[in-house]
Amino acid sequence: MRKNTVLTGITTTGTPHLGNYVGAIKPAIHASRNPEVQSYYFLADYHALVKNSEPARIRQSTLEIAATWLALGLDTETAVFYRQSDIPEIPELTWMLTCVTAKGLMNRAHAYKAAVQENLDAQEDADLAITMGLFCYPILMAADILMFNAQQVPVGRDQVQHLEMARDIAQRFNYLFGEHFVLPEAVIDEHVAVLPGLDGRKMSKSYNNTIPLWLPQKQLRKAIMKIVTNSLEPGQPKDTTDSALYSLYAAFASAEQRAAMQRAFAEGIAWGEAKQQTFELIDADLGAARDRYEDLISRPARIEEILQAGAARARSFATPFMQRLRSAVGIKRLG
Ligand code: TRP
Repeated sequence: MRKNTVLTGITTTGTPHLGNYVGAIKPAIHASRNPEVQSYYFLADYHALVKNSEPARIRQSTLEIAATWLALGLDTETAVFYRQSDIPEIPELTWMLTCVTAKGLMNRAHAYKAAVQENLDAQEDADLAITMGLFCYPILMAADILMFNAQQVPVGRDQVQHLEMARDIAQRFNYLFGEHFVLPEAVIDEHVAVLPGLDGRKMSKSYNNTIPLWLPQKQLRKAIMKIVTNSLEPGQPKDTTDSALYSLYAAFASAEQRAAMQRAFAEGIAWGEAKQQTFELIDADLGAARDRYEDLISRPARIEEILQAGAARARSFATPFMQRLRSAVGIKRLG
């Protein structure tokens, strides 16, 4: 029996921030330690091409994201950790899936529709600057998932529609060519904290309000000092419920630490003091991993070796599976 398969991809654009750590990386690494599941985590660099045409940026982001997962303790003996572009079966499967995907299904994708709407709002041609990469993005994502017959796919809410599309595409393929694919499910962890950013909105690259994960100590402190608070003076009771600072503290704190901070808020702790304590807590959480990160990032060849070993493991499943799929659609040797 194959173990329950959990798979997720990380697009290699940008630098990991605290929100990624708390909302995705930490829970994923934790989940990968469960002996009852087989995790597949990969760097989605083909997806990165859709949003970014700066080669240096993609390479740097790949390096930083890989180093981050390793520094934070991903065990690559247990989890299969690889780079999408090292698995040639994925683009091959993408084409097979493209041939069974209705254009109408892609027309309904939220991200594509939003891009069209933006053009129309600006009185431009509906198709302006929309590539086939953007249009077909959900098919590539379906191939990532179906390639390993993943049952569970931990993602953010914005990706739920992509999972529905992956199921539709898998069903269509199964209907035409036989039961090859398991229908994947999106897993949304309700307990995982959504971290507020510097301005109090959700921490996200698109809001430009992030705190990078691997800031040197001094800069980390500076960033935390910039989090928006209000004008309440020291000694005046403060509310934790709509405080970005408190939410950030809480995401890293134990239950006792949270209770103590709630009391401190009620007793009117000064904002500067609450920020200092938040800095100390996060710095202690990340300290040892930061050293491992610095070490790893200075040895890209070591990271490359790990990714190559992961790709070999991933392909030990993907290559024979792809062979069966080729045969199922009628692509096989003659005679
Ligand atoms: N589209 C996902 C995101 O932007 C990243 C991704 C690519 C992914 N392929 C995937 C996630 C496969 C889960 C499964 O977050």
